[in-house]
Amino acid sequence: MKVTKAIFPVAGLGTRFLPATKANPKEMLPVVDKPLIQYAVEEAVAAGITELIFVTSSSKRAIEDHFDSNYELESSLLERGKFDLLNIVRDILPEGVSCAYVRQKSPQGLGHAVWCAKPLVMNEPFAVLLADDLIDGGKKSCLQQMVDVYQQNHASVVAVEPIAREESKKYGVVDVVTINESVMSVRGIVEKPEPQLAPSTLGVVGRYILTPRIFTLLEEMNRGANGEIQLTDAIARLLQEEKVSALQFQGKRYDCGSKLGYLEATVAYALKHPELAKDFKQLLQSMTACLA
Ligand code: G1P
Repeated sequence: MKVTKAIFPVAGLGTRFLPATKANPKEMLPVVDKPLIQYAVEEAVAAGITELIFVTSSSKRAIEDHFDSNYELESSLLERGKFDLLNIVRDILPEGVSCAYVRQKSPQGLGHAVWCAKPLVMNEPFAVLLADDLIDGGKKSCLQQMVDVYQQNHASVVAVEPIAREESKKYGVVDVVTINESVMSVRGIVEKPEPQLAPSTLGVVGRYILTPRIFTLLEEMNRGANGEIQLTDAIARLLQEEKVSALQFQGKRYDCGSKLGYLEATVAYALKHPELAKDFKQLLQSMTACLA
């Protein structure tokens, strides 16, 4: 079965970016000129996703507006002959791609957020993308690499990357059968373990392809790390019934949930932005010269 649905959990409070995220969703923070959520949506659409499911909360209306048409803006751009800008605005949601929104009434963890989308996914495999993990996959996006793996063995796939052992408390960490291969068979997964208890130094990043069995398991989950219903715990349960693969993807991931990671992403994307790259490089060079 093809993966055509993707869940974007966007109900989180974004406290790490306050005050910027007091009235604006963290997923709407721009990296150069595009909000984080749009990068994640573009990655999903490029990998064949046609149904976008956003798990939102009351303060996230800007996300709905972003993926809706804005008649006033479009007609004003049209009147003024600003066709390039008009295309940029209209292309935010490509033809044939639909959006659905479901509310997560209170923040109860990633597992709970994913479970909220169950009525919209039903009995199909689906992707989950966390927009604050911005991934530049180069020629082939991270999700497309995962879809390729899914199509080979029809089992769930999590994206992983090497992490420093002392960082394990920030991640889901996998235990895999053969390390050092790009596609690995998962035999265990733990959410935010203490460094000395981490089963490996491969951390899960915010990309998953999951089979629908996960919804039933999420329903049975007790609260885990941070008192939240963890997707990782449900994946650990899933492992008792189904195969799960870990893909060490090709590409660079930016942790835009942290200020430093966000700044790194901004610099990297500005350096490859068609309009800005040249001038920005000069600016950066002159700024770093001052630092030396
Ligand atoms: C979530 C997941 C964690 C994963 C991480 C990737 O954690 O629970 O397993 O490693 O995303 O970004 P969070 O960053 O929401 O604490």
